[in-house]
Amino acid sequence: MLKGKKILLGVTGSIAAYKAATLVRLLVKQGAEVKVLMSDGAQDFITPLTLSTLSKNPVYHQFVLNNQGEWTNHVELAMWADCLLIAPTTANTIAKMAHGICDNLLLATYFSAKCVTLVAPAMDLDMYAHGSTQNNLTTLKSYGNIVLPVANGELASGLIGAGRMIEPEEIISFLQTHLVTNQALKNKKVLVTAGPTYESIDPVRFIGNHSSGKMGFAIAEEFARHGADVTLISGPTDLTTNNPKIKRIDVTSADDMFEKTLKAFSKSEIAVMSAAVADYTPEKVSITKIKKSGDELHLKLKKTKDILAELGKHKTKKQTLVGFALETNNEVANAKQKLQKKNLDFIVLNSLRSKGAGFGFDTNKITIIDKLGIQTEYKLKSKTEVALDIVQKIIAMKHV
Ligand code: CTP
Repeated sequence: MLKGKKILLGVTGSIAAYKAATLVRLLVKQGAEVKVLMSDGAQDFITPLTLSTLSKNPVYHQFVLNNQGEWTNHVELAMWADCLLIAPTTANTIAKMAHGICDNLLLATYFSAKCVTLVAPAMDLDMYAHGSTQNNLTTLKSYGNIVLPVANGELASGLIGAGRMIEPEEIISFLQTHLVTNQALKNKKVLVTAGPTYESIDPVRFIGNHSSGKMGFAIAEEFARHGADVTLISGPTDLTTNNPKIKRIDVTSADDMFEKTLKAFSKSEIAVMSAAVADYTPEKVSITKIKKSGDELHLKLKKTKDILAELGKHKTKKQTLVGFALETNNEVANAKQKLQKKNLDFIVLNSLRSKGAGFGFDTNKITIIDKLGIQTEYKLKSKTEVALDIVQKIIAMKHV
């Protein structure tokens, strides 16, 4: 399945570097053309000769003149590749990638690359769990990189936990997903909503909710990775996106989101509404700060417009409309009702009763129910993997 694909494999200094030999062998067996870049540290764990023999290509690690007197050019290497796969990736390299530190050939190639980059972290459990590493991984994702999960198990230190590099076979499977399906939605116009809405009470207070926007941002990134032109309409969130295929429009209130979303919908072929839109907003917004007085304060709220239901009314046969349902009880029945009432092609149900699912988590557990009544339950996955399931469902439905 990787026949003819040009894979640049970056290897950094982790004990998991020994698995790079298997990785190269599997890639070559799949028909890929492989070139290997090594950091200095990687060479303490596996020799360039091994990887050069298996890849049938020279191994690059320094900015040096080769035997023909040519300069090893990181830009040329970056342009050659269909994919840069860094496996294993140490905490040190992850930190440098996140912060623009470019002190070896592998990093210079990464910063020059326009192709998709997959990062397979490998480190001890506490290094992986450290806030700094986790923040760096989030930063890498926001730059459009694909961060692969780590495996649980015995680590080189003897400790047991999460941090091992996933097996070469699993890495190949991720690679296939991201490279082979990559352009299935090329130039399709896609609209995604994400995050919470804030409904002002007065100049200093608002009614909001706990949505982080992570699910919607992951969906937008996944569409972009499949070649789509994405408009992402987001409520207030700290998340960033730097993918050039994503045009981001920031909004604050439900009303604001309604207006911008409706406008963008007419030009969209696919719309996925994952925002947690406020259902009610203060009837009146005080222009001055409400002063403390009395023991109770009563706020009168009015209903907001249901954006998704409105899109459902305007939807044409050529458009695909997907909604979310966040439920705490009677999950399937409620989701089915929303699917029908809002005229959706399918609904993504997540229950707050599922462990690891919901606001703020990096994971989610979903059930997709489509308009034909087909119900598919997925296991607990990272939000990036869930986003891929949603995008693949759309591709399967549309046969695009
Ligand atoms: N939604 C919307 N506009 C609203 C409310 C919800 O577009 N004013 C969308 C959400 O983005 C989501 C879907 O509708 O895709 C379902 O949202 P949810 O909050 O689960 O359901 P509601 O329709 O608001 O119903 P309820 O709160 O009663 O469960």
